[in-house]
Amino acid sequence: MAGERTTTETGVLGWIDQRFPVVDFWNKHAGRYWTPKNFNFWYYFGVLSGVVLVNQLVTGIWLTMHYKPSAAEAFSSVEYIMRDVEWGWLIRYMHSTGASFFFIVVYLHMWRALLYGSYQKPRELVWIIGMLIFLVLMAEAFMGYVLPWGQMSFWGAQVIVSLFGAIPVIGTGLVEWIQGDYLPSDATINRFFALHVVALPLVLLGLVVLHIGALHEVGSNNPDGVDIKKKKDANGKPLDGIAFHPYFTVKDTFGTGVFLMLFAFVIFFEPTFGHLFLEYDNFAPADPLVTPEHIKPVWYFTPYYAMLRAIPDKLLGVMVMGAAVLIPFLLPWLDRSPVRSIRYRGPITKLALAIFAVAFVILGYLGLQSGSELQKLVAQICTAIYFLFFLLMPVYTKIDSVKPVPDRVTMHD
Ligand code: HEM
Repeated sequence: MAGERTTTETGVLGWIDQRFPVVDFWNKHAGRYWTPKNFNFWYYFGVLSGVVLVNQLVTGIWLTMHYKPSAAEAFSSVEYIMRDVEWGWLIRYMHSTGASFFFIVVYLHMWRALLYGSYQKPRELVWIIGMLIFLVLMAEAFMGYVLPWGQMSFWGAQVIVSLFGAIPVIGTGLVEWIQGDYLPSDATINRFFALHVVALPLVLLGLVVLHIGALHEVGSNNPDGVDIKKKKDANGKPLDGIAFHPYFTVKDTFGTGVFLMLFAFVIFFEPTFGHLFLEYDNFAPADPLVTPEHIKPVWYFTPYYAMLRAIPDKLLGVMVMGAAVLIPFLLPWLDRSPVRSIRYRGPITKLALAIFAVAFVILGYLGLQSGSELQKLVAQICTAIYFLFFLLMPVYTKIDSVKPVPDRVTMHD
């Protein structure tokens, strides 16, 4: 019939496929998505980011059924979820521990991109969309943390929102506009709730679809950084590519199983992870008249927080912190190396990456501490290392030696 698509499928699938190309879609993204066969451990974290995203969405919907977004009721509604709602404690811990696991898997996912040069041409857009996801994720996590309206929710919000006050001329007005009040209050909870529960998850989901769409357009990189599309068989299938389904669906199911065991272990035995995932002060209701001894964000923000505190001037500190979050956007253009993977890069690049990683972890540790003079000095040094890693990259990736990249991917036993 005119306008109908032809399909080799029969039955219900055939009926749908005549009207909507589900089979093409499946083949493009799974059945005939030729995936490099040498994916290793680091390639689990993309799919795991998706798993945690789904966990956050589902548990978030259930939390919303009992949570009350108001300054008067928020804290007690969370206590109610923990004590009285059936399985409420589990849903809440899956969500709060899930937030930390989200950052663990996303940081490891980003680290993989650094190791194997996955941001290089032609995957710049995949990287940029990934960075946008990272920004939205930070906003999402920050607003979620404010919702239980504990002491650290209130004071964390106060510290972070007041950073906007450092902006000349508009700063004070901007802080009031964001909070809807002179300090974090009922109006703040209401708008953060709307953003945390509806707006940002929608944006996040949309970006993830674009992220994977952009990746599947150009094809996945791999631990060798070899372009598998250069060597194809007579049918146009890359010699080093295997179908995503069933090979990687099975592999990822295994990875997801191991991950869920770890996740469950933490949820059941150490849900606050020594008060790193849910801070001690947040088990006390928000009190605008009592400042906690140490105000600090959750661990996943502490590297940036340490940079903020390392700079004595407030405005400059805010600018340095903002620049630290934004500078990785430029990575595809800062890296001038002719090879992608760390396996074939020279000693300078390897050393730079190792020092960068250590400095970032040290910053994360320092952000959790009280901030003595010595700690401030170390934070300043690590902040400098963080920026030099990026700013000097065009130079050291260009002058560094490289090893010959093989034609085909390598497999290790
Ligand atoms: C909700 C968060 C995210 C989800 C669900 C997600 C999902 C995925 C998936 C499923 C893949 C393909 C499998 C893999 O290569 O591991 C992928 C690849 C990739 N992602 Fe993400 N991602 C997320 C966040 C990010 C972020 C924050 C970045 C970087 C800033 C990023 C950068 C990349 C890059 C560069 C690739 C290509 C890797 C390669 O082919 O070697 N992603 N992502």
